[in-house]
Amino acid sequence: MCPKDSAAQVPREVAQSPVRRRFAEFLLGGGLLASAISFLYPILRYLVPPAQPDLGTDSVVAGRVGDLRRNSGKVFRFGNRPGILVLTENGDYKAMSGVCTHLNCTVQYRPDLRQVWCACHNGFYDLNGRNVAGPPPRPLELYEVHVRGEEIVVDRRRGA
Ligand code: FES
Repeated sequence: MCPKDSAAQVPREVAQSPVRRRFAEFLLGGGLLASAISFLYPILRYLVPPAQPDLGTDSVVAGRVGDLRRNSGKVFRFGNRPGILVLTENGDYKAMSGVCTHLNCTVQYRPDLRQVWCACHNGFYDLNGRNVAGPPPRPLELYEVHVRGEEIVVDRRRGA
């Protein structure tokens, strides 16, 4: 190799090196950014769930007489959200929103405590939907229940 060739190559390598380095940094930075976004996006979607439009259903058949035994409850579909129907020990039906007012988990009936319970963070509501323990900040929306023949019909309260 002649010294002239070596001298000619050095400047070209020096000239290409910053370009390669910038390209490698660009790829690495893009990869890190994509990794960070793919990690943070699901967390953000979990913490801020998308608003679901209410389908406007004001009345649904939540079940049939005989579906529930006393001191038990069931979750039913009310539009695009869950509701909970409870048959108390006294034989009264209670219905309320099944969506916890804390972070929107679906609640369930606890026959042992005679309360509505949210398993996500141990929140409790009484059978009138009032938040009585745990983190839920507001009561559950209470619904009216009508027994029409064999059907148990749940209506949203108007103006309540
Ligand atoms: S979501 Fe129900 S207590 Fe937190």
